[in-house]
Amino acid sequence: MTDRPDHGHSLKGAVERIADCRIVVTTQPWWLTGPVLGVIVNVKLSRPQSHACLTWLKQQLGPQPPPALFLTEDTTSAALREARAFGAAACLPVYTEPRVAVAALARLVYPHDTVTDLIVGRGVARAGRLLEDMFHTAEAGAVNIAAVEDALEPVLNAIQEGGLTRWLDVVWEHDDTTFQHCLLVAGLTTAFSQSLGLSRTDQHQMARGALVHDVGKAQIPLAILNKPGKLEADEMAVMRTHAALGYGILKSSGNCDPVALAVTRHHHEMLDGSGYPDRLSSDAIADPIRLLTICDIYAALIERRPYKAPYSSADAMRVLEGMGGKLEGALVQAFGKAVASPSGSPSRAVA
Ligand SMILES: [Fe+2]
Ligand SMILES: [Fe+2]
Repeated sequence: MTDRPDHGHSLKGAVERIADCRIVVTTQPWWLTGPVLGVIVNVKLSRPQSHACLTWLKQQLGPQPPPALFLTEDTTSAALREARAFGAAACLPVYTEPRVAVAALARLVYPHDTVTDLIVGRGVARAGRLLEDMFHTAEAGAVNIAAVEDALEPVLNAIQEGGLTRWLDVVWEHDDTTFQHCLLVAGLTTAFSQSLGLSRTDQHQMARGALVHDVGKAQIPLAILNKPGKLEADEMAVMRTHAALGYGILKSSGNCDPVALAVTRHHHEMLDGSGYPDRLSSDAIADPIRLLTICDIYAALIERRPYKAPYSSADAMRVLEGMGGKLEGALVQAFGKAVASPSGSPSRAVA
């Protein structure tokens, strides 16, 4: 709640790293539209409209309101008493850095989690929800491309704040193997992009491609997709159609980024021309595809499946390094560095 909408936006940005956020302004009517986990109040308490708005908030939150953090200009004990009377669980000076204020509220709302835990949890949850919705609608032939955009920043923030290890710790808990794979590829691709120093826009592009790359699997029969054993040749042929099917789904959805389209169609192409569906080779395979293909293969190797033990990180890297001619050696080396960094080693795969 604010009477300074300019400050409200920077606070909103900081809150949205860990939770959804809505700004309400003291001068405009508003109603609660869903559950509230916490409130940041940034108003001049001396203004009558602040009193009216806080009273309205109190009424709507009911007898057990969530914690409220007040940002106050006046830090005298009288002002703090007044804030407490309006329900402040804690007070900070109004010019507190937004991330510090959000961390203080987070401690009140989630006393047992760190801010990093919350950022990672939000990234995995947002991406997981997106995948569930996307695969559901993709069965009928199209997806909501705009929804993919909302998951990108949460994924980037999660990897930036928590590193790959924390991402994987949460992703391993996902019980659907296809979604788990896509979350894994999204985390690996983002960690790789960040370690290569790609721009935020390019990181978005790579995370977008990773989230959608296997959407064609939505149209593969479940008996093949979830077969608890190795696929027979005819089943493998059906499975391999997922790349072109995914491309078709994204194409019919409209407004899909060309890189995401290319990555979806070509993430099983190999530099020596032995891949599918178009048997592309060398220069016809663009950098984003080369990058994602490495992450995709590594993900498949470290995943736990009923018919195979998960590879350790070191063994998976050895497989990638043995694919000379199919993958770009220099990129494989760079990927090895990205996943071997202290924050990047996949803990469970090694265990
Ligand atoms: Fe694939
Ligand atoms: Fe994949």
